[in-house]
Amino acid sequence: MGKTAPLYHNAKLICAVTSDNHIDCQHPVPKVPMWFLTQSLKDCERSLRPVDAYVTIGDTTSRGSQRNWELAAACFKKANPAKHIFLTVGNHDLWGDDGFEAVRQRYLTYSNAICGTDHTETWFSHTVNGYKLIFLGNTQDAGCEAHLGEEQLAWLQRELDEAGGKPAFVFCHQSLNGRHGLPRTWDREESATDPMEGGIGTESDKVEAILKAHKNVFYFSGHSHMGLCGETRKQAEGYASFEQEDGVTLVNLPSLACGNHHGDDKSMGIGVIIEVYDDRVVIRPRNFARHTMNRKVMIKDGKPYWEQMIE
Ligand SMILES: [Fe+2]
Repeated sequence: MGKTAPLYHNAKLICAVTSDNHIDCQHPVPKVPMWFLTQSLKDCERSLRPVDAYVTIGDTTSRGSQRNWELAAACFKKANPAKHIFLTVGNHDLWGDDGFEAVRQRYLTYSNAICGTDHTETWFSHTVNGYKLIFLGNTQDAGCEAHLGEEQLAWLQRELDEAGGKPAFVFCHQSLNGRHGLPRTWDREESATDPMEGGIGTESDKVEAILKAHKNVFYFSGHSHMGLCGETRKQAEGYASFEQEDGVTLVNLPSLACGNHHGDDKSMGIGVIIEVYDDRVVIRPRNFARHTMNRKVMIKDGKPYWEQMIE
């Protein structure tokens, strides 16, 4: 069984990232998404170099019900994947039967219990090994879109200012509008008519401007359940899981446990490992369920991972 090991020596920060786990007591077989989440946690626990942070990019649950969060928490009890755990909030985590505020509070309660944090908002940051991990989150029910608000956007600007040009990692459930093939890749039927569909929505340009005003920013999203797409698809179709523009690296993750479409590899179980070194950042797709690094989808320059020198 393959254990995760960094590509190079002297990694300063290792993060494991998965998205759209969709723990769901109403799933035809609830143990299926629970199995994928648990496998990813156990895979990280076995890593040859301890993982500093295990991060999800939202939709940990399919609805933010008490039962779903109990099932998610049970998965996290089965392994010790990393020194830190952080759960980005997703639109599905904020959907429930008892109103937005009750569901938001339930996310905070369970996320804090799982992660050992004391967050009072869906947006927060932590500095791990000297690197900023920044998590964006909805402040009101916005359907499938993001709704961050001016206070959070001003805070994002300050957080990236404080990073001072060191690599900074921003996690938001939704990607910028129109990236990674959106809106075409929003669903398998390619029926989207709104150019904002599947993305952040009305605040996308503001987030984009803040990201692009800083160096060495890496922005991670999930949400669309697009499979892992590499550089060949970028040339043929114009989109990929890893994109870069104006110095900002954009990474869109497949769903870990809820099925994928539009991918070169649509398998469930896929996430990424972020490795930060003094002079570069490496981001490597991994199938956490099969315990193997991606070898078949070429991500950048004919290699099955993303490697970028720090500016
Ligand atoms: Fe999702």
